[in-house]
Amino acid sequence: MAERPKYYITTPIYYVNARPHLGHTYTTIAADTIARYKQMRGYEVVFLTGTDEHGQKVERAAKKEGVAPQDFTDRISSEYRALWKELDLRVDRFIRTTELRHARAVQKLFREIQKNGYVEKGYYEGNYCVYDEMYVDEPTPEGLCPECKRPVELVKEENYFFKLSAFEKPLLNYYQKHPEFVQPESRRNEVISFVSGGLRDLSISRTTLKWGIPWPGDEKHVFYVWSDALTNYITAIGYADNPAEFERLWPADVHLVGKEIIRFHAVYWPAFLMAAGLPLPRQVFAHGHILFQDEKMSKSRGNIQSPQPIARVLGTDALRYFLLREIVFGQDGNFSRDALVARYNSDLANGLGNLVSRTLTMIERYFDGKMPGPLESGAPGNEAPVKAACASAIGEAIDLYDQFATSRALERVWQAVSEVDRYLTLEKPWDRAENAAERAPVGHVLATSAAALRIAAVLAHPVLPKATQKIWELLGQQGQVGDHRMDQIAWRYLPAGTRIGKAEAIFPRVEKEEAIERIEAMEHELRQPKVAAAAGAGAGGGTTPAPAGSDRIAIEDFSKVEMRVGEIKTAERVPGADKLLKITVDIGSEVRQVVAGIAQYYEPEKLIGRKVIVVVNLQPRKLRGVESNGMIVAASVGPEGRPVLAGFHEEVEIGARLK
Ligand code: MSP
Repeated sequence: MAERPKYYITTPIYYVNARPHLGHTYTTIAADTIARYKQMRGYEVVFLTGTDEHGQKVERAAKKEGVAPQDFTDRISSEYRALWKELDLRVDRFIRTTELRHARAVQKLFREIQKNGYVEKGYYEGNYCVYDEMYVDEPTPEGLCPECKRPVELVKEENYFFKLSAFEKPLLNYYQKHPEFVQPESRRNEVISFVSGGLRDLSISRTTLKWGIPWPGDEKHVFYVWSDALTNYITAIGYADNPAEFERLWPADVHLVGKEIIRFHAVYWPAFLMAAGLPLPRQVFAHGHILFQDEKMSKSRGNIQSPQPIARVLGTDALRYFLLREIVFGQDGNFSRDALVARYNSDLANGLGNLVSRTLTMIERYFDGKMPGPLESGAPGNEAPVKAACASAIGEAIDLYDQFATSRALERVWQAVSEVDRYLTLEKPWDRAENAAERAPVGHVLATSAAALRIAAVLAHPVLPKATQKIWELLGQQGQVGDHRMDQIAWRYLPAGTRIGKAEAIFPRVEKEEAIERIEAMEHELRQPKVAAAAGAGAGGGTTPAPAGSDRIAIEDFSKVEMRVGEIKTAERVPGADKLLKITVDIGSEVRQVVAGIAQYYEPEKLIGRKVIVVVNLQPRKLRGVESNGMIVAASVGPEGRPVLAGFHEEVEIGARLK
């Protein structure tokens, strides 16, 4: 067999100062999808991601937690790895910048650059933004970083400088000759205009921190975190320790990045590579930002959604589908739980999922679970649009995946799915099946639907790897969908008599309110520091933590929960949320607003004046956009978890503490 061409794709390596959120997940899922697609185009794919672990930001985050930087980075880096595993992302390589091979690669690269005359020593005096890990030429009049609006710090230090200015012309020439190098077009223009404005030499070392890779031969300097980080893309494929592999895999085919770091990837990185005499990556593709509550999702803004609750409530495929269908790759797009669940129900549960289960149920019922064959002569008329929609979906989806336009690729596939739905509605096999004379044409209709589903499974596979594999198997197909070549797929009836699987809901429909509430509750739980961690942190204060391995807690743990008697003052429904009531409750010292999930069981008017138990020292959280500052205690009764409010048989004073 001829050797497959390689395809090397990377994501940014993520800072370990914070836990992964949906923003990081977005890039990694997009890369995973492209990787799966390229594999279905016959490439040997290498997909790299990892963690960026040096620099001041990480050093300070570790210090704030009172742990050594390495322990801190070990922990967060493994959270990243565990997350990609949980989400079933096929990461081929994971790089950490604290690995020894990486230090070797960084030192080797810059030694080379220095040898070629592009490094010199100098002084930097000016403003620095620790958060963005960069010097700020023009702070705002208030002295803030124009990017993140945090105060800049004045620094003066000896630095090594990279002669970036020497690469102004070569870079511009390169962009001109290789229009595909920076994409999408809007980013390309931005980069060209930045470089055309003139390039100043770039400081690439620091003497003010220890948490970094030492400069070879001058160890009071460590590498600036970005010169360290960018090098990861060559470290991971053997730049310092495996020349044969480096030769085989470099240059990268694409670096996927968020648009805020395009300059580092499309200006500095290619300049470093030119200076070292190495080939440049074939493309840097910058996607847009996920916005949540109208702002970029980020730790600093606190508007974070974690991917785990979505994956656990709706499945990993649903998470992938939403991100890649709802947001146009390359542009900013909004995340909302409402839109997420709405899309899940409409496109996955009612769309593809329903078509699969309808088709299989009918084959099971009318044909004993064996695939019917098509009519020899073909059926008159109605199936033509189905075949046409499948044929154009094949051609167009491939073209669109090639451009990373996943949302449009999926649109095409779903057009074919709805064409099949229309066809079934027209043919009504369920009305005709009982009539023996109609058996053959009904079989033809179902065979046509199954043939279309086979194509949809192949085309949607890069985005929905699990569901499409399941569909594949239910259709009685062997092996892995992902092993099929997308460019070799064509319309074909499945062999008559193929045993199909039992119909099952691939995407069970969910009740919107309930799914959103579960996602919110899990999100909340994820953000709470673990009880064990909290107990550990307080151990110095004379507390007795529960014995290891026991699921009992110590009295000190219980006493952390502050519960008080409260009296309900007002209660009203939360618009758009069937289960929620917005309640104000007097807890003695103040009147609190609490949101409670009891609307289906308690009339708001009847609650006024009722004495309840309130947990008063919970962190505030928002439920459907309404702030909840505490929790009303209720028993959860029966399999459906009906809430029954806890109360007292005797008179109690408002504000009394429960012990
Ligand atoms: N460590 C640097 C990258 C070094 S690459 C040599 C860094 N890390 S980061 O943790 O801040 O991750 C930034 C990347 O995460 C973005 O470029 C993007 O890929 C992804 N995203 C983080 N938040 C995002 C959104 N809100 N929306 C989309 N992607 C986002 O920068």
